[in-house]
Amino acid sequence: MDEGMRQIIGKEQIAARVRELGAQITRDYAGRNLNLVAVLKGSFLFLADLCREIQLPLTVDFLGISSYGDRTTTSGVIRITSDLTQPCNGKDVLVVEDIVDTGLTMRYLLDNLATRKPASLKVCTLLHKPSRARVKTPIDYLGFTVPDVFVIGYGLDYQGRYRNLPFIGVLDPPPAP
Ligand code: IMP
Repeated sequence: MDEGMRQIIGKEQIAARVRELGAQITRDYAGRNLNLVAVLKGSFLFLADLCREIQLPLTVDFLGISSYGDRTTTSGVIRITSDLTQPCNGKDVLVVEDIVDTGLTMRYLLDNLATRKPASLKVCTLLHKPSRARVKTPIDYLGFTVPDVFVIGYGLDYQGRYRNLPFIGVLDPPPAP
């Protein structure tokens, strides 16, 4: 492991939890029209692993979102930087996110996607920081709850780096907010 970094959730722990989530989603969405909507960039590894644990026909689409810039706390100004490539009306949309922190991004996304008339709209997030919630966010499938620390790895970045780490970690010392 790199110096200045501490692992908090290991590779095997992530894989085991992703397998459980995939099995649960497989049960819940049997016979439905499942469309995974992954939020870029942070959820790309989670999506790749999760979709292979779902034993159902499904489609995948991507939404690019930006709110952070290079800082570690949200600017609160959320922007769609790249929209879905296919309409999602009539589909069972499951939003796949890396982390719900303040909840502002997910709230914005859910409000936006709801206007497109999906048959259903649910949320699957790998991580949740409940201590930082600023708005109430419904989470239907959750990987892990994390404390109020800035996490990196398994898709999550700090200033664009660390996404390729196979585990979830924290920088030590932590980055300035
Ligand atoms: P929210 O709008 O505050 O809930 O933030 C959601 C987005 O902020 C996530 O999709 C991440 O891209 C980013 N984010 C929030 N917390 C962290 C963190 O601890 N590490 C890396 N990215 C984070």
